[in-house]
Parts: sequence; structure tokens; C-alpha cells
Amino acid sequence: MRSGYSRILVSAALLGLLLVTTMSSSIANPPNDQRTIEQRVVELLADMTLAEKIGQMNQVNASDEDMPHHLQEAIKAGRVGSILNQVNVDTVNELQRIAVEESRLGIPLLVGRDVIHGFKTVMPIPLGQAATWNPDIVRAGAQVAAREAATTGINWTFAPMIDISRDPRWGRIAESLGEDPYLASELAVAMVEGFQGDDLTDAGTIAATAKHFAGYGASESGRDYATVNIPENELRNVYFPPFKAAVDAGVVSLMAAFSDLDGVPATGNRFLMRDVLRDEWNFSGFVVSDWDSVRQLAIHGLTANDKESVYEAVTAGVDMEMAGQSYVDHLEALVDEGRIDVAMIDAMVANILRAKFRLGLFENPYTDPKALPPIANEHALETARKAALQSAVLLKNDHGVLPLSAKKLNSVAVIGPLADAPYEQLGTWIFDGDRELSITPMHAIHSLVGHNVDVRYLRAMDNSRSRASKAFDEAAEMARGSDAVLLFLGEESILSGEAHSRADINLPGDQAELVRRIREAGKPVIAVILAGRPLTLTNIVDRVDAILFAWHPGTMGGPAIADLLFGIESPSGKLPVTFPRMVGQIPIYYSQKRTGKPPSPDTVVLIDDIDAHAPQLSTGMTAYHLDAGYTPLFPFAYGLSYAEFDYQRIRASAREIRPGDTIRISAELTNKGDVAADEIVQLYIRDLVGNVTRPVRELKGFKRLRLEPGQTVTVDFDLHTDDLAFAGRDMQLMTEPGEFHAWIGGSSETELRTEFRIIDSD
Ligand code: BGC
Repeated sequence: MRSGYSRILVSAALLGLLLVTTMSSSIANPPNDQRTIEQRVVELLADMTLAEKIGQMNQVNASDEDMPHHLQEAIKAGRVGSILNQVNVDTVNELQRIAVEESRLGIPLLVGRDVIHGFKTVMPIPLGQAATWNPDIVRAGAQVAAREAATTGINWTFAPMIDISRDPRWGRIAESLGEDPYLASELAVAMVEGFQGDDLTDAGTIAATAKHFAGYGASESGRDYATVNIPENELRNVYFPPFKAAVDAGVVSLMAAFSDLDGVPATGNRFLMRDVLRDEWNFSGFVVSDWDSVRQLAIHGLTANDKESVYEAVTAGVDMEMAGQSYVDHLEALVDEGRIDVAMIDAMVANILRAKFRLGLFENPYTDPKALPPIANEHALETARKAALQSAVLLKNDHGVLPLSAKKLNSVAVIGPLADAPYEQLGTWIFDGDRELSITPMHAIHSLVGHNVDVRYLRAMDNSRSRASKAFDEAAEMARGSDAVLLFLGEESILSGEAHSRADINLPGDQAELVRRIREAGKPVIAVILAGRPLTLTNIVDRVDAILFAWHPGTMGGPAIADLLFGIESPSGKLPVTFPRMVGQIPIYYSQKRTGKPPSPDTVVLIDDIDAHAPQLSTGMTAYHLDAGYTPLFPFAYGLSYAEFDYQRIRASAREIRPGDTIRISAELTNKGDVAADEIVQLYIRDLVGNVTRPVRELKGFKRLRLEPGQTVTVDFDLHTDDLAFAGRDMQLMTEPGEFHAWIGGSSETELRTEFRIIDSD
């Protein structure tokens, strides 16, 4: 009786669904054969029992090397829609065979895995990839990762992670694309395109997941999993845009965040997943919970038990439960009791089935690794090298100490715990990353210049956290006897990533002391920093001549760093996130609001300058810290080059435009240096008066361009008035008439400005 009843509801619900998806103009909806997929979904759903539907909503951890009997039985019984963490292709093929041949309806499995920044060949951490400001290399990196992962039968990754991250204490900032909604959106789309390709049925493409919806990056004090409070207006203007962009790019799935958002944990948050994601954005893919995050709703204190957690998660719109089993345990009862309508289940299962059809799994669920390119092939390694090369950010280069000249040096000391650490350079989230493939900086420097430069190496510290300074004398001695010192500092991969937040983001252990000792040797000191987050470098910045910030650069980090240090290539990365002077400034980001008392250089009185005789009169009464001022150590989008870029003649194509118009902002860029190099040209705007206050600057465009010495180019950015829209007080997108400033330059602090105005259409 239940199945007859549900059949009628299925048809009604699915017809509605079909209409919604066909009517929507969003590119989130698969093109062309959409009707066919929808019809197949409808037909399949009509044949499913409630238990089989709930089975589709269940994702099971299958990480055991051998296939446990109970997993095989559950798949056979149609109780599993997806597995995760199985990477043996024979096992995956066998589990698919059981699903399609031995289960009643033969529905293939989604096979998930965290392929975050590479599979065997590891790209820089996503934050490093964001420093490339290069959607093409980011797309290529994801494509390489997808092809390698697909050899094991994986057809779905839990990436990209696109939580806006403005707190470097948060360990997961490493996985993010940084602090800026525009940059993160552009790169999120590139990653989705890289994983998913043009057609998900193509070999070597895998479904992507935009995660974690939403606000996870704003965990209080950067402590992972901690509470998040973000007002709706900020959610819409800052945290949502990358997700909206990923949805518009056709991302197959979204993952709900672990965190509590304004009192309602994301996994039980109807506003996020029903009101915004489905009703406003017309998302037709599916939402997966985070690991056991459904049952955690009770631990949060939102519900009293697992059953109520299931009720909240399902009604909020979490289509699939990851690793928790509580849907399987409680959902049927909730439907029987009439608390959850089977039509809701049908729509959710349809979201999952649609993904399986889009992936072509019903046509071929099996994987033949030989049909895919070999792992770590030349193209993969070259992509990783290029990404690492473009991700490194030159933060300081006094007197042009870099690049080093192999011709002029007799010897170089390579010192530090991260110079030759093949695993550590890969960074966080590399379940499958192959450390055997890593080429370390020490090895790469040897191969690049070892034939005519004496390259000496001393680790000096066991690891970045070591407090034992007994090797420091030897290190100082080596520095004294060498022409230059390359000091490889930072933090190991274990110090960032999930559940690896830090409250102190100075260089850990005795590294600052090592810098002090090396400095005393009196030789040029170049610090190369490998890390998963911005670090507060205030205590070393004046003690070194140059700083190259290389993030965790991945498999090919060594050759990329060597090429940059010795001038084969110029550094070209720019910071995707602001570097604070000290931790108390966090959150510090370039697109802050102006405040009613904006600070300026002439209002700042620092702690040491307070007038001892009239302390009450001393401060400038503006928004700054007495001990840190208001500026960061290095601003967003900052990064030096071996070339010298000069920006001139900014202009707007019109003084006034009307809603619906496009304006062109352009400037001239010249390479005044003597080497060819890439520059990342950026466009910022400020909307001077807003229905809600607007940031002092907002990134609205960027281009990575290569210029030969002496070359001048005109760089154009076209801005439509829609590009200037923001969510106003009523949370609707609006572009207001009024004054705008526009800047073009090489960092968020560029001063080259023009103005324009939007006037009313009537
Ligand atoms: C993380 C997710 C990840 C999942 C599966 C969770 O702990 O928050 O980002 O995709 O585990 O590994």
C-alpha cells in the first residue's frame, strides 16, 4: 500500500520538479538531455520502495582494505547510495558490480573521496593556488587531480572548499581560496570546471562538491568547528558568492558545514538549503552532510536525539548523510509517522539520482585505469610545477638580493627543517599524495646549480616545533662560511588543516632564534617559508633580506622554488589573504568597512608615543590598535617581482552610466625592469554611499599578464552595473545610483584611481 501511495506522490512531486528545472534558466541545470535524465529519474523513483530511497540517501565509509561482508550485503539490499574512502579500483569495481547486478534496481554507487589539491601528484594547497590568481592553472590542476583519482573508481570529490577565510588561525584556511568573495568565486568556478569537465560522462571527470555551506570559515577565534555568527547581509555579500558561482557553474553537490550558524547548525539550517539554495538559486544537484554532522545536531544541542536530528537535517534539505547511518535508522519511522512527507524524500532522492545519471554511471559504472592517462605523467608534473611557481609570493627583497646568481656565488648554505621534507611540502589533505614523487627544494637547488655552486645543507632543527637549539652553532658557522643563506622555515603539514588551528601564528619552535643566529653571520639571508596559512612574520621580517612565501607547494615545490631563487623565473604570486602584524589584529582584511572614525596615518599614536604627561589626550580617536596601528604586515594581493611594474593613466570610458550599462576602466602598465615577468593586474571599486555601508574597496577584476622588459600594455576591465550589485537592507541585490571610485594596480593598496557615477535611468 505504501508503495502505491508513494508512486502517486512521486509522479506529482517529480512533475513539479521537472517543471522547476526545465523552466529555470540557470546553467546549474544540466543542458540538452535534461528531459531524458528527468524522465529516467521519475521512472526509477516510481519503482523504488521507501527503504531503497532512504538507501540512496546513505553514504557509508568503505575505507577497510577488504570488503566487509556487511557492506556487500547492505549494497545488495539497496541500502547504500554512496561509499567514501575506498581507493582500490578492484574493490570499487566489485562494489559497483554488486550494486548494479545484485541489488533489485541496479543503481550504481557514488564513490567519494577528498581530492582536495591533487591525488598522487599534489598541487600547492588551495590557498597557494589562490595566490596564482590564475583560473587556467587552477582548472588544469583540478583536471589532473580528477584524472588521477578516477583511475581508482572515484567519481565524486569533496572539493572545492570555498569558505571565505579571514582568520589565519583557522587550520582550514589552507584548503580555502582566501579572503575575497570575487577571487574565490572565479577560482571556485575554475576548480569545478577542472573536476567536472564539459561532460561528466567523459572518462577522467568527477563530480565536485562546493563546501562547506555556509560560513564555516568564520569560526570564532579561528578554532575549528567553533560557533559562527554572521549577519544575513554579510552572508549574502561575502560568504555566499563563491557558492552561488559554483552552483551557476553546474557543481553537482554541496556539503553542509559542521558549524553552528547564528544558532542553527548548518546541517539543520532550512534558510541555507531550502530558502537560498533551492528557492533562490534553483540548485538541482544534491546536498551531502559533513562527516556524521547529522547526528552532531544533538551534540550541538539543537535536538534531543538522533531521530530528531534526522528530522531537522532532512527538512532542512540535506539529501545524503555522510557516514552517520541515522537516516537509515530513523527516516522510515518519520515518514510512517507522517512527520516527513514522502514527496520530500522523493525530491531529495531525485537530486541524488540525477547526479548518477549526469555521471553516466547507469551506462558504465566500472573503471578501467588503463583507459586513463598514467599517474604523475609529464603533463601532471608540469602542471604541479607551474602552479607552485605561480603561487609563491615574494614578500621582501631588499637591495635586489634575489635572484641569486649561480655565476657569482661560490657557495650557498641551505638550512632549515623544511628544505628537505618531501612529505611536509605536500600540505594538508593529501590522503593519496605520493611523497616519493616530491622533489624537495634542497634536491632541486642541487640539480639546478650544484655543478658550479657548493651547496651545503643542514637541517638545524628536527622539525619546525623543535626547541633544541644545539645545532644552531653549526648553522651559524655554515652561514658564515657561505656566500648566501637560504633558510627554509615555516610549519609542517600537520600544523594546518582540519582540527589543526593555532592561536599563535608565529613561526613555531625556535625558528626565530635560528634566524637571529644566522643573521649574526652577516651574510645575505633569504627566508623561504613553507606553511599552510599566513604567519605573523613581524619578529623575523627585519632580520632577513628576502622572504619568499611558498605555502605548501606540493610535489613540484622544489624545482619551482629553485627556479625562482635563481631567477629562471620571476615570482608572480600575490597574497589571497592579508598577513597581520600580530594575531590580535585578526580578522584583518582589505575590504573592511570604513567605520565612523576611519584611521589615517596622522591619527595614529602608538603605545610608545603616548604623551606621558597628558595620556588622556594622546590617541587619535580613530579605529586602530595602540600596539599595531591599523595596517597589516602585508596587504591582500601584495607580491613583489624581479621586474618593476609601473601603472599610469587610469581612465573610465564614461563619467556617467545608467543601470544596465557597461563601463570600461583601463590603465597603462609598463614593465620598467629588465626581465620578462607576469603581473597580476587588479581592479577595485568603492561604492561611496550605500543602502548598507560598503567596503572601502572591493575587487572586481584581475588579469595575469606577461610583459617583456620595456613593454607597455593597456589593460581594460569591463564592468556591468550588475557587477556592482550588493544585497541591501532587504537582502535583495541592488545597484544604486551614485558615486564610485575605481582603482587599477598591483595590490589592494594601489593609489591609481578614477571615478564614475551611476545615474537614474529616468
Ligand atoms: C571534513 C570534510 C570532508 C569529510 C570527508 C570532514 O571531516 O569536514 O571537509 O570532506 O570529512 O573526509
